[in-house]
Amino acid sequence: MTKEQLELYCYIWLGIAIAVHVTMFFVTAPFGRHTSKNWGPMINNKLGWFIMELPSLLIMLYFLLFGTNSLVSYSWILFALWITHYTNRSIIYPFRIKATSKKMPLFIALNAILFNLVNAGFNGYFLAEIASPEMYNEDWLYSTHFMVGLGLFVVGFLINQRADHLLINLRKPGETGYKIPKGFLFDYISSPNLFGEIIEWSGFALMAWNLPGLTFMVWTFANLVPRAKNHHDWNVNHFSDYPKKRKIIFPFLY
Ligand SMILES: NC(=O)c1ccc[n+]([C@@H]2O[C@H](COP(=O)([O-])OP(=O)(O)OC[C@H]3O[C@@H](n4cnc5c(N)ncnc54)[C@H](OP(=O)(O)O)[C@@H]3O)[C@@H](O)[C@H]2O)c1
Repeated sequence: MTKEQLELYCYIWLGIAIAVHVTMFFVTAPFGRHTSKNWGPMINNKLGWFIMELPSLLIMLYFLLFGTNSLVSYSWILFALWITHYTNRSIIYPFRIKATSKKMPLFIALNAILFNLVNAGFNGYFLAEIASPEMYNEDWLYSTHFMVGLGLFVVGFLINQRADHLLINLRKPGETGYKIPKGFLFDYISSPNLFGEIIEWSGFALMAWNLPGLTFMVWTFANLVPRAKNHHDWNVNHFSDYPKKRKIIFPFLY
């Protein structure tokens, strides 16, 4: 695949992201608290998280180890960040979430596999086969966009981890219901975990400074903003004492 072909695919994929973004405000993705049996066969929740996120980890590992340019420039830093995030999401996170009888539709897992195949495929292929070793040389390490991007990635990752940790630990052993999260960024927004994830991939796009990275940032935003709105609306309807001043996903803004 040439650079021009990859760019064309990225633009098409960006167009699909915008369509999905709009659709998701009208159709709630049926997993987690929004799960529903109306979407066909169901699978175990933890297994679902594992199989839907694993492709992203494996694809990036493949391109890191076997790609033409992966280990001859500092692009390995981008691979390392991606692999760190997806090791958590596919292997650690499913073990951390509390076991409930909740299941997810197979349809959701299959969609997420497609999402991960394309995003990791585009990003891994660009870094391993399209980017020249000069693109990620020593000058890149001292560039402003690298340093600011890395800072954002780390801060976003920590926010995402902290928020997931607090949410997961709201339930005591054996509990399956929902409680109002308090403290940390929960005093300002309903979904700090999704907010952290958006910051994280914005940082990655800034560091990588390429079209696949930007495409993945837009997809993350497209997916997570409506999901946060669904979470927020669900909370407001579910808890009569839900804090009125709490925003959806961006502190003080939305
Ligand atoms: N990159 C992407 O496009 C993408 C897409 C989706 C998710 N993600 C990431 O995946 C992670 C999970 O996303 P999510 O939307 O499923 O998160 P979530 O709805 O906030 O749930 C996170 C965990 O906390 C539990 N939980 C949430 N609110 C709770 C409450 N009020 N009381 C008790 N337990 C509660 C959930 O249990 P239940 O499952 O039982 O509700 C789940 O185990 C996040 O870190 C997110 O950033 C990324």
